[in-house]
Amino acid sequence: AQAELGDYAHFMQKEIFEQPDALENTMRGRFSEDGSTAQFGGLNLNADELRNVDRIILCACGTAWHACLVTKHLIERFARLPVEVDYASEFRYRNAPLSPTNTLCLVMSQSGETIDTLAALREAKRKGLRVLAVTNVVGSTIAREADGGIYQHAGPEIGVASTKAFTSQLLIGAMLALYLARLRTMSFTDGAAAVAALRAVPALIRKTLEQAPRIAEIATRYAQVTDMLFLGRLALFPIALEGALKLKEISYIHAEGYPAAELKHGPIALISPDCPSVFFVTRGELFSKVVSSMQEVKARGGPIIAICTEGLELPEKLADARIDIPDCHEAILPLVATIPVQLLSYEIAKQRGCDVDKPRNLAKSVTVE
Ligand code: G6P
Repeated sequence: AQAELGDYAHFMQKEIFEQPDALENTMRGRFSEDGSTAQFGGLNLNADELRNVDRIILCACGTAWHACLVTKHLIERFARLPVEVDYASEFRYRNAPLSPTNTLCLVMSQSGETIDTLAALREAKRKGLRVLAVTNVVGSTIAREADGGIYQHAGPEIGVASTKAFTSQLLIGAMLALYLARLRTMSFTDGAAAVAALRAVPALIRKTLEQAPRIAEIATRYAQVTDMLFLGRLALFPIALEGALKLKEISYIHAEGYPAAELKHGPIALISPDCPSVFFVTRGELFSKVVSSMQEVKARGGPIIAICTEGLELPEKLADARIDIPDCHEAILPLVATIPVQLLSYEIAKQRGCDVDKPRNLAKSVTVE
């Protein structure tokens, strides 16, 4: 295994830097000839069947569950279809009311072997739902039992903390939202703009990865804290959850993710110089709202790390550290915004001397309940 690491210190680091190539592979051959939509070979559902779908249920565990939350946001935003997200472990027991004819279930699982996700798939099938699977492992149990699906083609992921598999799930979520939207109300022009944005993902990620040395410096400043908050809104809220999960998994720092406006309903009680807040702050409708959440944290002595659209002006001295991300299409913003939190958690864990690739108590794939 040592040889496969090449110049990298850990598989997690290698997999973070492999993302431009992994995502290129996820997209390959998956855009229509006219460049206005995505296409998938293995759904086993035709356009008419997909147009009749009026509700989607997404089920997964862990990081893949966060990818489902982003996918929900994008499908609802672009295809105007109602989507629910369940933890697979809950869905399998909660006996959700279902109308099998027009409800589609989609499960996401990097390994394709997670027992709760497999059980959710079986439960949905038993109730008469069509079940699609997004998996990275070809021929895995979940891939075999689903009615159809989409392979991630991200390549093997060794690090227990998921990185490239997560962004490849986000990419598939965005492409699926585009595909469903183009079967319904999205215009050719908007579809073509989305395809162009998706094709630009590897380049944007390459550019964001160039900030690794700067992020390592920022990590040095905060590596010894006890708690950290991650705050984002709309499609960036799940990225806040993912940032918190990544950090706690590998560094054992207590971390929580919240929609920024929820700060005042609890987490603000944690704010102190030992509890930095990572804010996702981007151009758009909620910019000023996020800035006022940042000001509430600042006023209480909490350090702020801003993950911010490049060129966006923040009030002076509001952020103690700033990491820029490229300005991009909203369908790919969550994906691009993930890179800095992967690097930040990796650098913090490394500086704390943690076993980054094999964090205590965690398994890459959970195959027993
Ligand atoms: C474990 C892993 C996580 C992963 C989750 C779901 O908890 O440590 O990284 O997100 O399982 O795994 P799956 O293979 O179903 O995506």
